[in-house]
Amino acid sequence: MKSVRVTVPTVYRSIFIGDIHVPFHDHVAVKLLVEFLKWFQPQRIYLIGDVVDFYPLSRFDRDPARIGTLQIELDECVDLFTEIRDICPHAEMFFREGNHEKRLTRYLWQHDEIESLRCLDIKELLNLEELHIEHIEYNGHLDHYRSFLVEHGDLCRKHSGYTARAMMEKRQLSGICGHTHRLGAHYQTDHAGQKVWYENGCLCRLDPEYIVGKPNWQQGFTIAHNWENRFQVEQVPVMRGRIFCHGRLWEAVEEAKPEKQPLKLVVPDLDPVPKASSTPQESSTVQKKPAGRVPPRRSRQKGNNNALKPDPPQLPPDGDGEPGSRPGPLDGRGDGDDDFLSAD
Ligand SMILES: [Fe+2]
Ligand SMILES: [Fe+2]
Repeated sequence: MKSVRVTVPTVYRSIFIGDIHVPFHDHVAVKLLVEFLKWFQPQRIYLIGDVVDFYPLSRFDRDPARIGTLQIELDECVDLFTEIRDICPHAEMFFREGNHEKRLTRYLWQHDEIESLRCLDIKELLNLEELHIEHIEYNGHLDHYRSFLVEHGDLCRKHSGYTARAMMEKRQLSGICGHTHRLGAHYQTDHAGQKVWYENGCLCRLDPEYIVGKPNWQQGFTIAHNWENRFQVEQVPVMRGRIFCHGRLWEAVEEAKPEKQPLKLVVPDLDPVPKASSTPQESSTVQKKPAGRVPPRRSRQKGNNNALKPDPPQLPPDGDGEPGSRPGPLDGRGDGDDDFLSAD
């Protein structure tokens, strides 16, 4: 009969984060992660790829409106890295490229005349050296835990856990990967012992423009406690704006809104008779006419067909009202009837 010994080993806390896809990240999910980091205080932070989307460098169809946004992507990513570094100033940080960061490499290979520019190196673009983040290239992998690989992954099977199994069979080791945007795990025991592979989930939005319907993705990340050569891994899903881990709840809540400004009513000129003149000077004269009492909107529409197409709403004189403050169904005082808007 064996007895049970209880000890408290010295552990390393690690966290695996990936598939954020800035600027397509889910702001709530990332905010939850940031708050979680303040509490968890990992000693090792693994950013395991597809952190930046590099959308403008994609070889697939691109929205022309987004082509010039690369610097914004990079700035947002550097801001996030900086925030994480501020929260965990002493943590070891590793950034391993995913296939989306590989877009930059591929682009530079195609434009090799500028490939050697130091300023285009991803370490430079993401400020990795200044933030003390170790860079690992797309083809590299991390093996800090002896037979537990950390990589972005290059397989994607249909269901959660399927890719974990495929990656384990490919590597013949335990490990963790991203790339699938799914949370999942696959365990296997054989003559060599027990192996496990994890899929790390994502922190990007779950409504990508290039997928019709709902993608089979799960938001989340993974934490691990390591001691000696052992590790205990836990997956942390982000669901409905919440994280629950180790008895703690992180929950996204609405921020207190500033007190509402008093509503201002913009009174349209209801005179159905077309104006004789449209010169700016004469128009301003029309605006200064004292507005009469406004009949109720519905009765106005029923009683006079001309009133269905009123003149554009005129701002009352002396700045009593603001441009764009016309009433509508979404401004909190409309009744859901958008005839007023369509009549403009
Ligand atoms: Fe990804
Ligand atoms: Fe990927």
